[in-house]
Amino acid sequence: MYKYVILFIVVSIAFSFFYSQMKGQSVKKEKEQFQSLSFKLADTKADSLLTLMTQDEIISLVEGDRSFFIRPFPRLNLPEVYMTDATGGVHIREDLNADDMTKYRLQKSTAFPCPLSLAATWNPKLSYQYAEAVGEECRAGGIGILLGPGVNTYRVSQCGRNFEYFGEDPFLRAKMVSAYVKGVQSTGTIATLKHFVANNTDYYRRRSNSLLDERTLNEIYLPPFQAGIDAGAQAVMTSYNRLNGEWCGQSEYVINGILRKQLGFQGLVMTDWWSVYDGEKLVQSGQDLEMPYAVALKDVHQLLQEGKIRIEDIKRMAKSILRTCFVMKLNDRGKNLSDSTLYENHELIALQTAREGIVLLKNEKNILPLQENKKKILVTGDYAVKNAVGGGSAFVKGYNNRLMLDELKKEFGDRILYVENPNPDQIQSADAVLCAIGTEDSEGWDRPFALPQDQEKKVEDCVNNNPNTIVIVTSGGGIRMTDWNNKAKAVLYAWYGGQIGNKALIEIIAGKTNPSGKLPITIEKEFKDSPGYGYLPEGEILYQGWHEKEERAHPLYDIRYTEGIFVGYRWYEKKNIEPLYSFGFGLSYTSFEYGDLTIGTDMFQDQGKVEVSFTVKNIGARRGSETVQLYVQDVECTVPRPLKELKGFAKVDLEPGQSNTVVIELTTKDFSFWNPETKDWFFEKGTFIIQVGSSSKEIKIQKQIEL
Ligand code: BGC
Repeated sequence: MYKYVILFIVVSIAFSFFYSQMKGQSVKKEKEQFQSLSFKLADTKADSLLTLMTQDEIISLVEGDRSFFIRPFPRLNLPEVYMTDATGGVHIREDLNADDMTKYRLQKSTAFPCPLSLAATWNPKLSYQYAEAVGEECRAGGIGILLGPGVNTYRVSQCGRNFEYFGEDPFLRAKMVSAYVKGVQSTGTIATLKHFVANNTDYYRRRSNSLLDERTLNEIYLPPFQAGIDAGAQAVMTSYNRLNGEWCGQSEYVINGILRKQLGFQGLVMTDWWSVYDGEKLVQSGQDLEMPYAVALKDVHQLLQEGKIRIEDIKRMAKSILRTCFVMKLNDRGKNLSDSTLYENHELIALQTAREGIVLLKNEKNILPLQENKKKILVTGDYAVKNAVGGGSAFVKGYNNRLMLDELKKEFGDRILYVENPNPDQIQSADAVLCAIGTEDSEGWDRPFALPQDQEKKVEDCVNNNPNTIVIVTSGGGIRMTDWNNKAKAVLYAWYGGQIGNKALIEIIAGKTNPSGKLPITIEKEFKDSPGYGYLPEGEILYQGWHEKEERAHPLYDIRYTEGIFVGYRWYEKKNIEPLYSFGFGLSYTSFEYGDLTIGTDMFQDQGKVEVSFTVKNIGARRGSETVQLYVQDVECTVPRPLKELKGFAKVDLEPGQSNTVVIELTTKDFSFWNPETKDWFFEKGTFIIQVGSSSKEIKIQKQIEL
């Protein structure tokens, strides 16, 4: 009988869809309607399936199974759904049981440059391709849900997971994340926005309580989640921390209030692994799925008996899980990636990401690209002979990993001399020194801003003994460079480059690739300069390594986001603190000239649009790409606002002498701030300055406008 009911509903929904189409709706409307049609169909299907399930089956659906699965129900033809991490490539799990290992083990997965490196490309198209490749590998491995992208904020340079995220700026993050979500989901793989919300440190991450106000939350921390949701992301993972007093994974304010009601999320919400404690709250919060298995929900039967929760609430959770899988047609997805040429393409995308993501921070006397006269090149440092990768769930092993030293030898032959621990004579006698230092960051703990002592000593030995030292930094975030930066002739920031990043790095050193990466973070001189300084409880020091038991015993502690909206460059500019390297900064082997700034405000009254156009010209001798950045300043305002807010950017590729006109359209929202009273963006008319430049610091052209 229920089949006929469904058929009737389907026919009437389809009829109303086509009818409205005939009436000539806009393309956007049609798309929205199509999405709502598939949502309604999936909703109906989920409803009917639930009628066939027993209460125990429904309960077991909302609890994770075997750590990384949504439970299967063979009698209902419902297959299991496998999920794995993460943003920078597929983490092939060694810890599945034997059967699952055989079923889900990909032979290999591409290790891409870390997401922070992707952010440094400032190239949303590349973000799409990168994510599409990750999604294709998921499909090949039968992975229905990718546990990424991680979209938290670079608030503290010490955070161990910065490498997994997209940097400090909400606008840049939103653009990169939106493209990422579309890329993954174009392959039929579900993207999971994580970790919701205000989860910006891994220091005793299960014990922290983030305290922040609504304006800060909305202006700095929510935009990439909103962008991901608008791009169609079907899953969200809540975080380990509390927000303003309650664990995010069981907080009604966070899930029903912010995520579902305010941001309009309709998909699947899951907890982070072992991050919730109270079954009753969890069920009422809007949460759908407890991972990796029932901990908070272990007493669910008792809660039902006591009337503290209702079976309807559990059904709502189960329905959300089923509906999401149906919306994405997870069960009909092919496994069509055994073809090795696809892996080759993925590696090319990884290579391109590294080419565009490596940032040249310093290049005195144009020591780079290295010239023929540098006959004897001394190479030293740990990361010349080992590839650092981010640790924890985001770890991706990769295959055919290329070492820096091997790539250098391929390029420069016997001009390369590698010495593990060179003495001053050896350093002095080289024509140039390449010193590869860095940090190995991981989920589970934060790491000091200062380099480990052995790394610091290595780099200081090099710069003190050879004026032609080129420092290559491998790290998942900013590090302290203050004591040697001035003495280094060049500094290249290589992040975690993935399996093929070193090829791109050596192309840059040899001049075969012109660097174009720009910092998605600010690098401070000293950690105490930064907005997050003081986030550790007084008197406590950082730890490293997995300390689960100790972690759970640690007292709960507050992280007060006292800097408010002043995160990253917003902070340094307001406080007038000079960082070592500014947000958006990065050098090229060519140079660019900016001009002809015109701003059209005529359309603002009627359509809320401002059109900014300007020219960029390559005035150097070689082809190169420039990321032009547009910042807005609200000059008169009733609330404190940053001196600059990024509201537009474009990457322009130019031949020598070539010039291009860039047009960036701004909307009312780009001039607005979040008003906690109305719970909406608020535009206040007045004077604004439009600033265009090559970094947050180097503004090349600007104009004042009245709106
Ligand atoms: C991490 C998540 C990850 C999950 C599953 C947790 O420890 O915080 O980001 O997706 O493990 O691997």
